[in-house]
Order: sequence, then structure tokens, then C-alpha cells
Amino acid sequence: MKAIVLAGGYATRLRPISYVIPKLLFPVAGKPMIYWTLDLLKKFQVDEVVLAVNYLAEDLRKAVGDEYRGMRIRFSLETSPLGTAGPIKLASKMTRLKRTFIVMNGDIITNIDFNEMLRRHKSSKAEITDALREVQNPSRFGVVELDVTSRIIRFVEKPSKADAPSRLINAGIYIIEPSVLNRIPSDRKVSLEREVFPVLARRGKLEGFTLLDYWFDIGNSSDYRKANFALAKKICGRSKLRLGKHANAKNLKVTPPMLIGRNTTIGSEANLGPNTVLGKNVLVGKRVRISNSIIFDHVNIGEKSIVTGAIVASNSMIGKGVRIEQGAIISPNVSIRDGVRVGKGAVIHPYKEITQHISAWTQVM
Ligand code: GDD
Ligand code: MG
Repeated sequence: MKAIVLAGGYATRLRPISYVIPKLLFPVAGKPMIYWTLDLLKKFQVDEVVLAVNYLAEDLRKAVGDEYRGMRIRFSLETSPLGTAGPIKLASKMTRLKRTFIVMNGDIITNIDFNEMLRRHKSSKAEITDALREVQNPSRFGVVELDVTSRIIRFVEKPSKADAPSRLINAGIYIIEPSVLNRIPSDRKVSLEREVFPVLARRGKLEGFTLLDYWFDIGNSSDYRKANFALAKKICGRSKLRLGKHANAKNLKVTPPMLIGRNTTIGSEANLGPNTVLGKNVLVGKRVRISNSIIFDHVNIGEKSIVTGAIVASNSMIGKGVRIEQGAIISPNVSIRDGVRVGKGAVIHPYKEITQHISAWTQVM
């Protein structure tokens, strides 16, 4: 079976980190987002994955290569963004889509059972089956109305609170028949959610499949944190922490859940967790405290620093005795001098050198 992963767009809600790191390479609970998707697809006999890309495509291609666990990986490059349906049409020019295929948004993590979804899809004779999820606040999603047989009879993308027909939302995972390709015009931006689904819903050709497994949408930095912490908890299970290969951590205090990546070294008397994910090749000095934070790969954190509720992206150097407060975002390749305090919600853009205190909610560009 073939799968297309929608991996373009500008990831504006994950800026400034997404200026330099493609969303799909953001680490989530120890592995880049794209590998959560590829590992899922591998479980269901997918043998070819087309990554539909545009912005920062070259970085993704370099990282992923053309093969993963026996699956062929191809890149379909758009010269300008084609939306969510346009890339499917474009992909059909690079690979034959003669049989039922899977399409997924690249920014979700789930353990959906595709076998079950495929069975439902086949028996429903729909052109598209859409995985659905119940949420509290549907208005930032696509929202559906179902009939008693699970047909989607109405699809509304990002409705206002009052107009949302239900609390069942589009989870961004589809099983699609090749006939749908005829419904997508070529060479322009086309939205599946705004142009294709409403028509199929009216014709009774769109089936809903309610997802009971886990599902995380990584649209903005708050969702990104939540997904990391929830998955860290799953990965740790009953143990306090999961330690990667060749990681070194002695004499530390841990509050679970806590993930420590490969080759990461933690100095003595560090106090780590809860909800903390450290990437690969991270160096944490003595007596450092980190809680509710995500630290990407190749980060150094000098002794006695305190990191609370923050994101620190790759290759950043945090000096000694630094304080990084709740909600702060430190982009890749930032260097912060000893003793500096980065206030609540402050955002530091890539490649900055910080030598003075940064007040709360400021952006350093
Ligand atoms: N190749 C390509 N080209 N991919 C794109 C483009 C584009 O022009 N625009 C967006 N994408 C990719 C994004 O990378 C993402 O993986 C997916 O398409 C969806 O786009 P988002 O911009 O993340 O949309 P959203 O999160 O606001 O809403 C979508 O996802 C929700 C579930 O998370 C919609 O599908 C909603 O209906 C859905 O509820
Ligand atoms: Mg999204």
C-alpha cells in the first residue's frame, strides 16, 4: 500500500524554531515527528511513502533519505504550496496511484489501527474514509456531522463555535480511492477540507471512522509540549525514567516522567522532571534543575542553571547559573551567557547571543 504524508506549509504557529527546523523534524518524546508517522505506516504493510514537501524540503530529505525500514521514501516537491489536496494530485504524477491509498497530515501522532479502518472503508464503499476524533473545542479543526451509519453528511473546516455541527473533528488521516484524483484540479492550491470533503459529504461518499486510539495534533507550541509529555508518560510506563544508549546519569533526582536521549550526560545532583524530555548528545551540568521542558539534541546546559516549562532547541549553549522561565522558547544555535535570566514567555530567535537579562514576554530577533 502507498501513503502520502502532507509535510509542507510554513508551520507559522511553531515559529521561530520552525524557521530553521522543519516541523516534521521537531523531536517528540525522543524521536523526530516524521519517524512516529513512518513507524506507524510500517506496521501496516505500507511499502512506499511520498512526502509532499515545500518549505525546508532539503533538510527533511537529507535527514530521512530514500529508504526507511524497507519502505521506499520519495519526495514530491511543490514549487509553491498546493494546500492539502493539490499535493495528492502532484504525487499522482510521480507515483502510480491505481489502488486505495493512505493520506496523513504530517503533524499528528497516533496509533490508529489502519487494518480496522481499511475494513470499514471497503465495506462502506465510500471514496474517502476520514478518521475522526472527539474533542472539547472543535473550532480550530474540521468538524463533521454524521448520520446513524457513520456517513459524514456535512464537513465544515474551522467553523465558529456556534456553527460547529458536533464535537467530532477531522483527525487528518484518510483512506482514499484513486477516483478522488479526478476531483482535484491540477496546478493550483486545492484544499481537501474546503473543496473536496464538502462535495463528497453531499454525495454520500465520505465515511467517518472514529478513532479510539491516542492522537496528538502538534499545531502550536502548547500542543507540542502536551504531546511530548503524554508520550513520555506512555514510554516510561511504571518506571521513573527511560535512559537512551550510552547516556550517563548518576546521583540525580528524578520525578517522572523523564526521557533522556542517547549519549546524553547529566552532572551529579541534577534535579530533573517531571515532564522532561532531553534529546541526544545533551550535556547537563551539576546541580541543574529542569522541569516541564523539552531540550532538543546537542544542547549544553551549564551547572546550577534552572529551566522551567521551556523549549530549548538544538545546538544551543546555556551558560552556568542561567534561569529560563515558564513558557520561554530558545531557538536553535542560541548562546546564553552565565547568570542571565530569560523571563516568562520570552522568545529568542535563532543564532542570537544573549548577554543580558531578557524580560518576560519579549521577543529577541
Ligand atoms: N505539501 C503540503 N503543501 N503540505 C501542506 C500544505 C501545502 O501547501 N499546507 C499544509 N500542509 C500540511 C501540513 O504540514 C500539515 O501536516 C497538514 O498539511 C495540515 O495542515 P495544517 O496547516 O497543519 O492544518 P490544520 O492543523 O490547521 O488543520 C488540519 O488538521 C486538523 C487536524 O490536526 C485540517 O485537516 C483539519 O481539518 C484537521 O482537523
Ligand atoms: Mg496541523
